[in-house]
Amino acid sequence: MLTHPEGSDAHPSPEPHVMWSSRFAFVMAAVGSAVGLGNIWKFPYMAGTNGGGAFVLVYLGCVALIGLPILMAEVMIGRADGPSPVGALRSLAIRHGASSQWGFIGAVGAVTALMVLSFYSVVAGWALAYVPKIASGDFLNASGSHSESVLSQHLADPLALGAWHTVFIVLTILIIARGVGRGIERAVVWLMPALFALLVMLVAYAAMEGAFLQGASFLLTPDFSALSSDAVLSAAGHAFFTLSVGLGAMIVYGGYLPAGVSIPRTAILVASLDTSCALLAGLAIFPLVFANGLDPEGGPGLVFVALPVAFGNMEGGNIFGALFFILLAIAALTSAVALLEPMVAELVSRGRNRAWSAAFLGSLTWSLGFISIFSFNIWADVRLAGDARTLFDWLNLLTSDLLLPLGGIAIAIFAGWVIPRETAEQQLGVGSHVLTAWRVLVRYVAPAAVTIVLVDIALK
Ligand code: TRP
Repeated sequence: MLTHPEGSDAHPSPEPHVMWSSRFAFVMAAVGSAVGLGNIWKFPYMAGTNGGGAFVLVYLGCVALIGLPILMAEVMIGRADGPSPVGALRSLAIRHGASSQWGFIGAVGAVTALMVLSFYSVVAGWALAYVPKIASGDFLNASGSHSESVLSQHLADPLALGAWHTVFIVLTILIIARGVGRGIERAVVWLMPALFALLVMLVAYAAMEGAFLQGASFLLTPDFSALSSDAVLSAAGHAFFTLSVGLGAMIVYGGYLPAGVSIPRTAILVASLDTSCALLAGLAIFPLVFANGLDPEGGPGLVFVALPVAFGNMEGGNIFGALFFILLAIAALTSAVALLEPMVAELVSRGRNRAWSAAFLGSLTWSLGFISIFSFNIWADVRLAGDARTLFDWLNLLTSDLLLPLGGIAIAIFAGWVIPRETAEQQLGVGSHVLTAWRVLVRYVAPAAVTIVLVDIALK
């Protein structure tokens, strides 16, 4: 499915520099990376713990004004140089008379990606574990409290969590070892439409059986008095997380993008599909949460409690439910691949073997995953500095709310200040007004907005 570009590239790497076979393939791969647990697991529970509508509005604003321009910047940087995050930033910096230290941003991003993957894989493992649970009828006519106890029993079992985490990491390694295009391209082309269709079906079910108006108004009616500065930062951080930007993953994917494909149009499509999936997930889940007396502030377990109740009470729910969690796990897999790929692409560009790099980095991430696993059971009481958060919460917070936004503004500054206007114009292929608007966003708006929120939190 992958073709070799003509007139190859600036970095003669031991692995031929491969390309997506078409714009469609790239869109699918980018959507595959963007749509994942962030949309279906994380977005609903964050909206729940941050008070609903106001959070959602800030999140949508951040996606449009900060995430989207940076997504365009990352893809542009990758396409301008090639799929190595450190190499692309460093050589573009040198070419445009800036410090070669910019490459450091790529390295931090690639390491951050492994930290994200370490807990991402654990949660993806929950989705895998739920496939046999639902298929075998564990949730038949289940109540909310039964569903809560199934989840807490699962989380109390480090062996089960570890086993499913292992399965998921091994799958990720296998796909990466085979190369980006093969596998991912084929999987996402049918997966994304199927997942979308199931989400729509769930929203329809929630509209008939759940407290739809209550759920929808929780999600869509902004109450700004409930919005703390932490919530604003979480919304901004989640905008990065959900679009897979802030750590160079899209630099790598952009590195596989042929010239001639419109980056802005592609990025807008990716962001719209991604946001629609998140909103659909929210509209499916909250009506069920309210109808079943569950707590919208249920935290990371929210989706795994609310949806099985719905499946347990619907005709053919064990089949639909199993299918849903299979699709969720595959959606997570296409995102996990985008998290492991930056570091692998980096090692490959330095002459390492792809399969070896995937196995080595995958094992490292796998070990790190046990921090998250144990924070649900044997380390459940471990707290840092008197804070209420578990180690899992800390990893999640440190990456999404700090490293992603910081990486994102570094990339924005790079794209806005280091890359000359003419180069950006040529890569993005937009008219001069749109180009100016984009430059204002990456040069001023994104860095300023993220800095203000971070400083505001630091001062508290
Ligand atoms: N976007 C994915 C999700 O929402 C997570 C993800 C995949 C990601 N690749 C990434 C996040 C790269 C940050 C950077 O589920």
